[in-house]
Amino acid sequence: MTYKNKWALITGASAGIGAAFARSLAQKGANLVLVARRKEKLESLAAELAAAYSVETIVIAADLADPLASSDIAEKLASDGVNIDILVNNAGFGMPGNFTESDWAAHRDFLALMVTSYAHLTHAFLPGMLERDYGRIIQVASVAGLVPGSSGHTLYGASKAFLVSFAQSLAGECEGTGVHASALCPGFTYSEFHDVNETRSLVSQLPKHMFMEAEPVVEGALEAVEKAHVVYVPGAWNKFTVWLMKALPRPWAALMVKNQSAKFRRATAD
Ligand SMILES: NC(=O)c1ccc[n+]([C@@H]2O[C@H](COP(=O)([O-])OP(=O)(O)OC[C@H]3O[C@@H](n4cnc5c(N)ncnc54)[C@H](OP(=O)(O)O)[C@@H]3O)[C@@H](O)[C@H]2O)c1
Repeated sequence: MTYKNKWALITGASAGIGAAFARSLAQKGANLVLVARRKEKLESLAAELAAAYSVETIVIAADLADPLASSDIAEKLASDGVNIDILVNNAGFGMPGNFTESDWAAHRDFLALMVTSYAHLTHAFLPGMLERDYGRIIQVASVAGLVPGSSGHTLYGASKAFLVSFAQSLAGECEGTGVHASALCPGFTYSEFHDVNETRSLVSQLPKHMFMEAEPVVEGALEAVEKAHVVYVPGAWNKFTVWLMKALPRPWAALMVKNQSAKFRRATAD
């Protein structure tokens, strides 16, 4: 797999899965547009990868919950003459607690990042990909988007289910072209995710076999999108979980998710 002279845009590239995508894509020759809020982290990653792999890099510090951020990014890249060939929509976080525990502004910003920015950036870059007859689009969803909704983290599973469905529709619309669209559905992955949402002490009580490192998640996702595999679940444990939730009668699956999620989702920062 080589992406020499391609440009990849990765959101949420300052940490975790997004940083792992940046490393892997640079190693495969892609030039990078790195997007997140923490500019220093992006700049240090960009400098490291430019030196290691002789790729070009552009750093854009942006809060993707801002309704203007996605169009500003697209306009800046167009004015710089940069065509995006690979789009990895990945930026995200989780909000523990039940629905009414957070105010509407927090939910609004969550949806703006986790749903709207993914759709907006795809809308901005897909036409160019179709015109050039080449594109790779990865929507970073979650196992949570493939199983019944959990109690707590209320909008998280719903936002990830949106991304799965969105990727399926895009894949159908792009069939027969050089553009491939996939949803990556990881389970628990080592990153800053559970530190940011302050559930590290809860999830660290879970068995280690439930967790994956970010690197194999990313390598599997890149192979999957190359093969035009539309919904990709990395890891044996995650695949088993998704299989079980589909095999069980729906009310049993919902009850199991409700009971399990109470262990690591419902509590806020305790
Ligand atoms: N880790 C898991 O167990 C797991 C499981 C399934 C799915 N996922 C999904 O994987 C994706 C990446 O998560 P991760 O595990 O790598 O978490 P992470 O290590 O916390 O990284 C999240 C990234 O998103 C960026 N981000 C957050 N809010 C942003 C905003 N408003 N605007 C721009 N960038 C923002 C963060 O950068 P800044 O703070 O610098 O902005 C960071 O680069 C997410 O979509 C998550 O839902 C994770």
